[in-house]
Amino acid sequence: MGGHLGSAGVSGVPGPARPRARAQGSDTVPVPVPPPRRSRSGTWRPGTQWLRSGPGWRRRCGVTRGHLGSVGVSGVPGPGRPRARAWGSDAGPVPVPPQAFEERHLASRDPVAQFGAWLAEALRCPAVGEANAMCLATCSRDGKPSARMVLLKGFGPDGFRFFTNRQSRKGRELDSNPFASLVFYWEPLNRQVRIEGSVRRLSEEESEQYFHSRPRSSQIGAVASRQSSVIPDREYLMQRNAELEEKYRDVPVPKPEDWGGYILQPDVVEFWQGQTSRLHDRIVFRRLRDGAEPPGPMTRRGEGEWVFERLAP
Ligand SMILES: Cc1cc2nc3c(=O)[nH]c(=O)nc-3n(C[C@H](O)[C@H](O)[C@H](O)COP(=O)(O)O)c2cc1C
Repeated sequence: MGGHLGSAGVSGVPGPARPRARAQGSDTVPVPVPPPRRSRSGTWRPGTQWLRSGPGWRRRCGVTRGHLGSVGVSGVPGPGRPRARAWGSDAGPVPVPPQAFEERHLASRDPVAQFGAWLAEALRCPAVGEANAMCLATCSRDGKPSARMVLLKGFGPDGFRFFTNRQSRKGRELDSNPFASLVFYWEPLNRQVRIEGSVRRLSEEESEQYFHSRPRSSQIGAVASRQSSVIPDREYLMQRNAELEEKYRDVPVPKPEDWGGYILQPDVVEFWQGQTSRLHDRIVFRRLRDGAEPPGPMTRRGEGEWVFERLAP
């Protein structure tokens, strides 16, 4: 795996001492962070990458909307790249827009490492507000979909982690239909990543550990709110919160039984790079498993069980 991921404590990803004050769903205290995993060459090694956010890491990424040719970040093609022939053209070499995302620009042929490379770039880009915010789509057993934003809290070869209330709508849907899809959209970079796979619960131990790493106010909020249940009014929530603040003033806040983490193990990961020309790039990785579509003449080999293909935009 080769994607340069600024893992926790590594450049590009918020570090432990960096407070955050962001929108709904954000935490101000980071999750425990394993030591940075980097090989001597500075590339990413397998292992869960833990995410935090905070203003301190923000640096200029130099991106101008819709034009990535001038971006000075790794893995993003810069100006002056070699030209290639247009698809299906026999009229000789034609200019390729400088921002084209070609297979040779992949930071890794492992989609999780490639995701890490793009996420690191999104985290470094000051114009991206909350790089680890993702749309999570779930589906009821009878095929009715629902989607909402959640925060990615860690990822690695075993999958993508997020935390929520298990009795919420998404939690109940995941219990009855353990498949989901994630979408990241980093507008200033003109990039989208789509991930699909199966979902399982994280262990109680891991959920406990993460819960207690959150700020007290978030812990109390999680106890106060039976997520997705109907409540009479805002006052009800505020009063309940105040009561719990008092109750747990000097003692640890217990994790609600129904609160915990999930991990989505990816089977499909698509990288979409938008182009001003509208000839957008789509490179989709899929895991070759029993029952998967067999490789075709245009399929390329990725790392491990992964193969990848280019899709028409
Ligand atoms: C940027 C953002 C991040 C969010 N992060 C989380 C999260 O990590 N976990 C969570 O349970 N809800 C999060 N929410 C709230 C969810 O979008 C949603 O309102 C809530 O989980 C209830 O969804 P459900 O009724 O479909 O289960 C976030 C919302 C936004 C806008």
